[in-house]
Amino acid sequence: MKRVKIQLKKNSYEIIIEKDLLSRLSFFIAEIYKNKKIYIITDDQVAEFYLQKVRTILEEKFIVEDVIVPHGESSKSIETYCSVVKQLLNKNIRRNELLLALGGGVIGDLTGFVAATLYRGLPYMSIPTSLLSQMDSSIGGKTGIDFDERKNIIGCFKQPKLVLIDPNTLNTLPVEEFKNGMGELIKHAVIGNPKLFQMLLSKPEIDEEIIFESLTVKKHLVEADEFDQGERMLLNFGHTFGHAIELKYNLKHGHAVALGMLMAIHFGIDLGITNKEVYSKILTILNLYEISYQEYNYKAYVKDIVYDKKNIAGVIQFVLLRDIGKAFLYPVEESKLKELL
Ligand code: GLY
Repeated sequence: MKRVKIQLKKNSYEIIIEKDLLSRLSFFIAEIYKNKKIYIITDDQVAEFYLQKVRTILEEKFIVEDVIVPHGESSKSIETYCSVVKQLLNKNIRRNELLLALGGGVIGDLTGFVAATLYRGLPYMSIPTSLLSQMDSSIGGKTGIDFDERKNIIGCFKQPKLVLIDPNTLNTLPVEEFKNGMGELIKHAVIGNPKLFQMLLSKPEIDEEIIFESLTVKKHLVEADEFDQGERMLLNFGHTFGHAIELKYNLKHGHAVALGMLMAIHFGIDLGITNKEVYSKILTILNLYEISYQEYNYKAYVKDIVYDKKNIAGVIQFVLLRDIGKAFLYPVEESKLKELL
């Protein structure tokens, strides 16, 4: 078992990573949550694999209700949000009762947002079941929904009480979904953990150790900058360019991030900042994990980047690398961008 503590000024919490953790769920939750009722929020696909198992285990100690939404990004909507709130109210949820997110990033973000807003705040925990959500969205308290065809445009920060990761849930992931998560895992190695990068070169099983090493990178950045005003933005490595191609070519998020990393490295090399060898090192890893790539010319996507919501008042926050493990923010004023490129 591995434990990662996210140490914040208020609302610190733990991530527990353990193979077959699902069978000990009640024990971990009961350590922290002292009320009787738990409301599971999940989607129809995850429900098929895990809902009955999770319910049966939790019912040893708790009274359990569930709310099932359709799977997929379309559930991160204001309509699904309203439907979940309505169902919870119909079940007479009280403000000190626990929501439990069981699923991938969509379920985590939606549940967190309901937990942040219903009764002005309920406790929530999460069991991320996809590699992408285990690596990224379940940690750090970003919650929200999409609106007006923009991703995560309505939301807030709300930290969970506990995050429970069972690497066994990765066994039921489709290959493409697994690769999707690998994009973010590789990103963590590249921006802040050369030891993990080295470990990945031997293509290990994605087990407790690897997940722990990856989450350590995010832990330090979230602790240093809970509300994403500074250092936490290093997690956007590969995202500035990645977002520009994700929708355009209908790529999975992790895949777009992987390609966005290549673009950012290319940019850094052109600026004389990034060690040239980094590019081939990343290609080695992408080949190893069979993440297909093609080299997009980063200069062609600058116009799209200017519209990215993370740009703060006319400044584009690029994240560049000096070398593996050495990422830094490279702000460029929009007006200077043309000159630079
Ligand atoms: N996904 C990036 C972050 O949590 O800040």
